[in-house]
Amino acid sequence: MDKEAAQKRINELAEQINYHNHRYYMLSDPEIADYDFDMLLEELVSLEKQYPELADENSPSNKVGGTVTKSFKTVIHKYPMLSLSNSYNREELDEFDARVQKGLGRPATYVCELKYDGVAIGITYINGVLSQAITRGDGEKGDDVSANVRTIRSIPLRLMGDAYPDEIEVRGEIFWPRKDFNRVNDEREELGEARLANPRNAASGTLKMQDSRVVAGRKLDSYLYFLLADELPSRSHYENVLKAREWGLKIPPPESNYIAKCQNLDEVFGFIEYWDNKRKDLDFDIDGVVIKVDNLDDQAELGFTAKSPRWAMAYKFKTERVSTRLNSVSFQVGRTGAITPVANLEPVLLAGTVVKRASLHNADQIAKLGLHIGDDVYVEKGGEIIPKIVGVDLEKRKEEFPVVNFISHCPECGSELKRMDGEAQHFCPNIWDCPPQIKGRMSHFISRKAMDMEGLGEETIDQLFEEGLISDISDIYSLTMEQLLPLERMAEKSAENLLNGAKASLQIPFERVLFAIGIRFVGETVAKKLARHFKNIDAIMSADSDSLLAVDEIGERIAASVVEFFADERNKKLIERLKTAGLKFELDESETQGMSDKLKGKTFVVSGVFSKYSRDEIKAMIEKNGGKNSSSISSKTSYVVAGENMGPAKLAKAEQLGIEIIGEEELEELISD
Ligand code: IVH
Repeated sequence: MDKEAAQKRINELAEQINYHNHRYYMLSDPEIADYDFDMLLEELVSLEKQYPELADENSPSNKVGGTVTKSFKTVIHKYPMLSLSNSYNREELDEFDARVQKGLGRPATYVCELKYDGVAIGITYINGVLSQAITRGDGEKGDDVSANVRTIRSIPLRLMGDAYPDEIEVRGEIFWPRKDFNRVNDEREELGEARLANPRNAASGTLKMQDSRVVAGRKLDSYLYFLLADELPSRSHYENVLKAREWGLKIPPPESNYIAKCQNLDEVFGFIEYWDNKRKDLDFDIDGVVIKVDNLDDQAELGFTAKSPRWAMAYKFKTERVSTRLNSVSFQVGRTGAITPVANLEPVLLAGTVVKRASLHNADQIAKLGLHIGDDVYVEKGGEIIPKIVGVDLEKRKEEFPVVNFISHCPECGSELKRMDGEAQHFCPNIWDCPPQIKGRMSHFISRKAMDMEGLGEETIDQLFEEGLISDISDIYSLTMEQLLPLERMAEKSAENLLNGAKASLQIPFERVLFAIGIRFVGETVAKKLARHFKNIDAIMSADSDSLLAVDEIGERIAASVVEFFADERNKKLIERLKTAGLKFELDESETQGMSDKLKGKTFVVSGVFSKYSRDEIKAMIEKNGGKNSSSISSKTSYVVAGENMGPAKLAKAEQLGIEIIGEEELEELISD
């Protein structure tokens, strides 16, 4: 393909991808399968790689990230980013309404919207193209986080149609939907990383990350709620945002009930009550409702105070807050050695439950609150399940109250704590002799996704450890009836179950054993990749960093962790003991059957629909025989395995690069003996 043809194809692809993005993220009504969408995107990415001079910063390929921002530029807001006055009850809203009516000399029509609990953003489009996205900052100036914002799927890089103003700034809120936030947190936990405290702070941190690829991997979302331009289509805010929806901007549709026009305060209050009850069903956090005067001329007439518009008001849902005494702070040590401070409180009733403890997250949090033991603290239950301390009643502080200091040594084993640069969490480095870490590793080992040992739970692990019957995971396999029966709460039946569970676990396949031994950053998927690639533990143990990096999806961080793990003699000995116990440390014959190196060094692109196998089966065949699958055709592709309905663009590209196109039978021939 020459440059001119490439440009044409890039434009075509960008248009198609923008269209499908809109259908998917705005209308929730996709027209094509995810796979086909990925194919379009990959074709675009590879064309832009081939012709970097044709890559545009608003190409939809930016949705997968790739830009690294070293430091974020500070930018002055064209229109300052104001905040809203808050109200907490009907009386305060009545007062707001009275002020509005007095200002206008007549009643106003209102628009009610959700108050999204995220990170405020101002996005400028010039001639329909996203030119800049700035955080609130101090309201006067914020950070240019354009590269990261471009990865957010629901934020269009180009507006649709041609009815938008030449220059427009849209303001809105970026948030992290709970489902994806929880997914990332579960993954972090599995990898032994600290959980992120709450979706809002995490979204804010994500927008400030240097590598936009990481941002793209977190599925941030957004809603927009404010338009700023010299001229807007209508004098009604409501009509304008609906119009902006037609330009592709993520504004909730009226049928979602996230936005409603209200003729009087009763209707406003109906909206508030509805969402106060329903907000728990949303997949994102809201902390109230925003009430705006609908007519822009009315808004102009009412004007602004120094801090906020007189034509809008936030209504904040009640988060129940109580005050109670901080009795002490304890420090918990997690499975990976991470230290979490916990506040022990004088028990108090909050939102229907008795609260005795509150999480303090980390050292910075304690310092920020400036806590002293004996303080009266305010406790709230927000979106999170664990209550949190939000402030201190300084008037009740007495001089003799001692300040809360973060500990310098592990409360369990006495080792000096460490804190890595840039990390919020302190941790205990004594992985071998710190009891909660030993017990934590054992709990991970027996867990359902790992060795799945029925008959053995965390409590029993604790008990066996305290009794000195087990000191590492290999000891589980040498337990006997005679040792177990004398234990408290251990009936014959449960002892039998425990031993049978351990025996049954000897059948667990290698890849899960590899996950179970708990190498940092080796989660389920990585363990699978390593097992399939190296086939047995000895090969993994002797692998150096380079050979680990050669495995699909294994990066520096994982490779370093694996090397470090097996460099430790104690881990080598542990593996020996587990081998003696009879655990599987190599792939089964059934798994290795049909495996070969016949396709080693060859890269395949599989495309279209096949008659004998499914596309996944074909890909599995390729991997089993040492080949690598890729989804985009490039000069590095060795073969294209084509079925029916292969995309014409792909075909053209393969032909142009002179890549051999084969069918499923020819692939079978390549791997047959
Ligand atoms: S309108 C000049 N609408 O809440 C008025 N703000 O506490 C501009 N927010 O600064 C703001 N949802 O960051 C508006 N539907 C909504 C909102 C909303 C959340 C945020 C926004 C604002 C803050 C005020």
